[in-house]
Amino acid sequence: MDKARAKAFLGSMVGYINGGSIAMMCSIGHRTGLFDSMAGAPAMTSEALAERAGLNERYVREWLWAMASAAIVDYDADTESFLLPEEHRMLVTRAGGSLNLAAALQSISLLAQVEDDVVEAFQTGAGVPYSKYPNFQDFMAEQSGAKFDAALLDEMIPNIPGATEALAKGARLADLGCGRGHALILLAEAFPNSSFHGFDFSSEAMLSAQSAADERGLTNLTFTECDAAEFTADEPFDFITTFDAIHDQAQPATVLRNIHDALRDGGWYLCVEPKAESTLAENMLDPMAPFTYTMSTMHCMSVSLAGGGEGLGTAWGTQRVIEHLETAGFSNIETRAAPQDRTNTHFVATRAATTA
Ligand SMILES: C[S@@+](CC[C@H](N)C(=O)[O-])C[C@H]1O[C@@H](n2cnc3c(N)ncnc32)[C@H](O)[C@@H]1O
Repeated sequence: MDKARAKAFLGSMVGYINGGSIAMMCSIGHRTGLFDSMAGAPAMTSEALAERAGLNERYVREWLWAMASAAIVDYDADTESFLLPEEHRMLVTRAGGSLNLAAALQSISLLAQVEDDVVEAFQTGAGVPYSKYPNFQDFMAEQSGAKFDAALLDEMIPNIPGATEALAKGARLADLGCGRGHALILLAEAFPNSSFHGFDFSSEAMLSAQSAADERGLTNLTFTECDAAEFTADEPFDFITTFDAIHDQAQPATVLRNIHDALRDGGWYLCVEPKAESTLAENMLDPMAPFTYTMSTMHCMSVSLAGGGEGLGTAWGTQRVIEHLETAGFSNIETRAAPQDRTNTHFVATRAATTA
C-alpha cells in the first residue's frame, strides 16, 4: 500500500467532485447571463448583481459563494462584494466567443440528463438515440456557431488552396450533418455566386436552419432533411463539408462513400473531426482526454450504436480517419491547422479525377 499514492488519488477524486459541481454552476452562470452581467463591472454585492441580471438574490448569492470558493470570482469579505477578474472574463463570457468555456460546460449538464439511459445501455449494449438528448441542437448550434464565426471564413476555407477563388466565382457546396446550418449561412452570405445545400436527419434542425436562411433573405441556400447514409447528388458537388458529423454516424463508411460519389472529379472534401490519435496510449497524453472519452460514452458512441452502427467513438483519431477516407476512395488526404479551432483536426481530401 503506497500511502502517498492513496493520498494523491484522494486529492484527485476531491478535485473531480468539485470540478463536476462547478461545471454545472458555470453552465448556470452562462445560461442566466450572470457571468456576462459581471463582465467589466466593479465589485458588486449579491443584491447589486441580482438587480443588474434581473434574477433572484438568494439564488445569485449561493451561486456567487460557489464561484468564490472555486476562485472563479474574487471575494472581498469586508464589503461582501464579488468581482469577475479581467483575466477570467474571456473564458466565461459571451464576449469570449469560441473561448467561452462556461458555454462549453453546458455539455456536462446536458450529458447528465441521459445518464439513466446510458447506464441501461451498459447492460443491453444498445445505444441512446438523439431524441433522448434534450436541447441537443440548441447546445450544438451555440458551440459550433462561435467556432464558425471565429474560424470558418478566416481559416478553414482559406486553408484549402483554390477554394476561396472557386466559391467566389460560383460553386456547389453541400454540408452533411449540418445541424442548424450556421456554417452554411456564413458561407452563403460571403459567396453569393455559389449555392449551398445543407442536409441533416433532424427535422427540427432543418426547419430552424431554413427559417434562419429565410430571415436573412438568402436565396442561394437550401436545407433538406436527409439521412447521410442515403445521400446522393442529382448533380455533382464541387465541395462537400462535414463538421463533427462522421464519428457519430451509424454507418460512417457508407456516408464517406456517398460523399465521395457525390463530388465531381477533383472536388474537395473538408472533414472536420475531433482532434485525437487512434490509440488510448497516445490520447492519455492529451489533458482533455477524460472529457473526450466521457463525451464519447455519453453521446457520440451511443448515438451511433443506437442506429445499429459501429460506435466509432469521439476519439477514433487521425490514423483511423485517414484509413476510412482512403477506403472511401479519397486521395490527396492532408491535415490542416486552424488555430481558432484547436479541438478539431481538419482533413482535406479530393475525389481523384476519373481516368477514361
Ligand atoms: C455533432 S452534430 C454537428 C452539427 C453541425 N455540423 C455543427 O458543427 O454544429 C452532428 C449532426 O449530425 C446529424 N446526423 C447524425 N447522423 C446523421 C445521419 N445519419 N444523417 C444526417 N444527419 C445526421 C445530427 O442530427 C447532428 O445535427
